[in-house]
Amino acid sequence: MSDISVNYMGLKLSSPIMAASSGLTAQLDRVAEFEKAGVGAIVVKSLFEEQIVNEAEFLQSQSHDYPESADYLHHYLRQNSIERYLKLVTDVKNTVSVPVIASINCYSGGEWTSFAKEIEKAGADGLELNIYSLPLDIYKSSNDIETEYLNVVEKVSKQLKIPVAVKIASTFTNLPGFVNALKAHGAKGVVMFNRFYSPDIDIKKVRVFPADAFSSPEESLRELRWMGIVSALVSGIDLSASTGVHNGTLALKQILAGATTVQMCTALYKKGAVSISNAIDDINLFMDTQGFSSVEEFKGKLNYANIENPGKFERVQFMKTFGNRG
Ligand SMILES: Cc1cc2nc3c(=O)[nH]c(=O)nc-3n(C[C@H](O)[C@H](O)[C@H](O)COP(=O)(O)O)c2cc1C
Repeated sequence: MSDISVNYMGLKLSSPIMAASSGLTAQLDRVAEFEKAGVGAIVVKSLFEEQIVNEAEFLQSQSHDYPESADYLHHYLRQNSIERYLKLVTDVKNTVSVPVIASINCYSGGEWTSFAKEIEKAGADGLELNIYSLPLDIYKSSNDIETEYLNVVEKVSKQLKIPVAVKIASTFTNLPGFVNALKAHGAKGVVMFNRFYSPDIDIKKVRVFPADAFSSPEESLRELRWMGIVSALVSGIDLSASTGVHNGTLALKQILAGATTVQMCTALYKKGAVSISNAIDDINLFMDTQGFSSVEEFKGKLNYANIENPGKFERVQFMKTFGNRG
């Protein structure tokens, strides 16, 4: 049996397959199943910056002049989403022995960032910041937005001893440059990429409706290019692949391109924990067949720096590929 363990942001993972943040990782019976199937780490469902901010504002608005409100406040605090989230992190931690990574969906470096310490206290082994704000201000520059993101990462990671990963969108003008900046601001890992809900249009009913929340395997090709390029250009940061990684073959492709870990979400919703054990079997089989004894031996073997013709990662326009086909 090969050694499929990996070191992700200083955390020792028994396998490179992670359970991505979703409703499933808020359920203790499901995370226990994922561990049994061989998952390397669990990313807990996210808490949202808005939840933290709204609650802090609510608490501030409660006057200390009215002691009779103390009971209500006490009750509120027990019920509120922050306390519930911290309890969830502790419960997941008590349910599994693999590393548990908490997650916050956020977009600004405001006061809420001091809350991150509570996550560490709750027992999380790491924190994933899912950072994105839909840009709707046509007068704002992309540099302004990226600076805000970097500010969040710096503020949060400075306060924590546990490693911080940043889950990003794929749409940055200079993605390798941005990942390098994330590293400089304290990120130990980058998750490429988040998959957003998309609007779709029904032409029969002439209305907008939400597209499928689940990915298709083909979508993993988008991060394959960037995995290959970023892993070659930015050293000293761990990359995790997310979106479209539905099976072991797709996981192996991401690792060969430079990912330290891959995250599964849609596969877990559609097929359950068996997706994890099947992927692990496929990784073991691949390593036995190819003669690799550790994941490190083949991680990034086919990245932009290591292949003979790096142009294969650079080719973006059809002209270059099909130009000679008339
Ligand atoms: C139902 C559902 C809930 C999700 N919840 C979260 C979440 O709370 N936080 C987060 O960072 N990503 C969340 N995601 C995104 C997934 O973690 C993952 O990045 C995305 O689904 C792409 O991976 P996949 O192709 O394996 O599904 C969610 C996805 C789905 C489908």
